[in-house]
Amino acid sequence: MKFVRVKTYEEMSTLAADLMAAQILVKPDSVIGLATGSTPVGMYKKLSKYNKAGKIDFAKVKSFNLDEYAGLDGTNEQSYRYFMNDKLFNHINIDMANTHVPNGCAADLALEGEQYDAMIAEAGGIDMQLLGIGFDGHIGFNEPDDHFTAPTHGVVLDESTIDANSRFFEKREDVPTMAISMGMRSIMQAKKILFVANGKGKEDIVNKAFFGPITPEVPASILQLHPDVTVFFSEE
Ligand code: F6R
Repeated sequence: MKFVRVKTYEEMSTLAADLMAAQILVKPDSVIGLATGSTPVGMYKKLSKYNKAGKIDFAKVKSFNLDEYAGLDGTNEQSYRYFMNDKLFNHINIDMANTHVPNGCAADLALEGEQYDAMIAEAGGIDMQLLGIGFDGHIGFNEPDDHFTAPTHGVVLDESTIDANSRFFEKREDVPTMAISMGMRSIMQAKKILFVANGKGKEDIVNKAFFGPITPEVPASILQLHPDVTVFFSEE
């Protein structure tokens, strides 16, 4: 694991964007795994800039997002599909047909998960997976549990996750209580992991994840078993 500690959010975003850009430069048809949340927003801005300046080309890139709220379709401004279009896809030359976000409106989330994992496998697996971390140690929406879950699956969100994400909604009651999340198999099978963390209060959980025991109570701790993880941690 490479652990890079930087001072500012800006630095973290630049380093993360540069690593993703390098991936796409060396493999133009890369399959990238993407995350939502506030942490990658700066990185997505940089990638959009690089694309506009002709420095990277997304024409052949395929993307798979980690997760989606249950019951929100892509037209809903709180959905992760909407977020991705708004923060990245609408600003780069990616083919929208090559962008994938799990369908949170699927009647059967387990079946949707199976199909999502099959699509990732068919694309050849993920070359570089971007991850953030929740205050409870979640990656994607893999919440603390007594076991790790392998396939993409439906999840009940933790109260702490609902609290944290309520900042994006008008009222806490509007935050969906369920979601669909890529499971540990597709995440851990990614060839490289690009992990970003910033913001007050993340230091403790990042320490637990990377320097504590591997336990499903801290879902991100499974990354200690991954052979190629780069962490960009901003002190800001
Ligand atoms: C969202 C996701 C989540 C976030 C995590 C941190 O797609 O994968 O695991 O990375 O909740 O969110 P922020 O960046 O808002 O602190």
